[in-house]
Amino acid sequence: MRVVRTIKALRASVDGWRKNGQTIGLAPTMGALHDGHVSLVTHANNLADRSVASIFVNPRQFGPREDLTTYPCDAASDLEKLNAAGCDLVFAPAPTEVYPPGFQTSIGVDTLASVLCGASRPHFFGGVATIVCKLLNQCRPDVAVFGEKDYQQLLVIRRMVKDLDMDVAIASAPIVREKDGLAMSSRNAYLTDVERQIAASLNRVIAEAAARLEQGDEVEPTLNNSRAALAEAGFENIDYLEVRGAEDLSPLGLGAVKQSARVFAAVNLGSTRLIDNWPVTSGTSV
Ligand code: PAF
Repeated sequence: MRVVRTIKALRASVDGWRKNGQTIGLAPTMGALHDGHVSLVTHANNLADRSVASIFVNPRQFGPREDLTTYPCDAASDLEKLNAAGCDLVFAPAPTEVYPPGFQTSIGVDTLASVLCGASRPHFFGGVATIVCKLLNQCRPDVAVFGEKDYQQLLVIRRMVKDLDMDVAIASAPIVREKDGLAMSSRNAYLTDVERQIAASLNRVIAEAAARLEQGDEVEPTLNNSRAALAEAGFENIDYLEVRGAEDLSPLGLGAVKQSARVFAAVNLGSTRLIDNWPVTSGTSV
């Protein structure tokens, strides 16, 4: 496994593979890797001949009061995990390689990025779209893989790629969970023991909501029950708990779910923000 720090070195490796007729899969990450990230590399390996993982903590997707300076980082462990996962190349650029002096372009995705996490983190998806657009241009992969834990991010990236006619396939990887169902996240490392116990309820509550919706229960009473269950479990600060269309995050009516949908939740536990989502697989047929 090679580690490169410059766009030039990244392109030299990728171009060499391409000349040999090999395809390339990219797994973008911000480091502090867990099994969820490893699964992105595994997917990239399954979908392409060569895999590239990027490690870059992107300052443009953090707000002024967010955790950019304390974001977890363990470069040695990250490289070990990527090597074990069969990653061919790691791209770990310095901030100035990505955003040299004078940089002033950003990508905006409108409606999709304005709801759910976009409502409370207005800077976030612009920062994500900009860095992902750059990484796709820098690496020029055939396929890039994103996790379904950040489901809204996945849809925003798909939209950007379609809208900007970018020649890359966007693949998704299912959420990887801890034994108690908590969705793996680099930010789980911030949780105290007590918060970690509370955190385990999040997936249970949204899974239960999804199951009720699949049975035909109506959206509003189901979500009200779930909000009460989250409060009961110890979540004092629910940012959102919503059911939206799985393809375009469209808001659903007040009655039973009649289309492919997902339950989306974001909560703040102490100073840690957790997000999760759960598919509503059937819904009442139209
Ligand atoms: O999901 C993440 O880790 C980040 O948002 C991404 C896609 C690597 C962009 O910085």
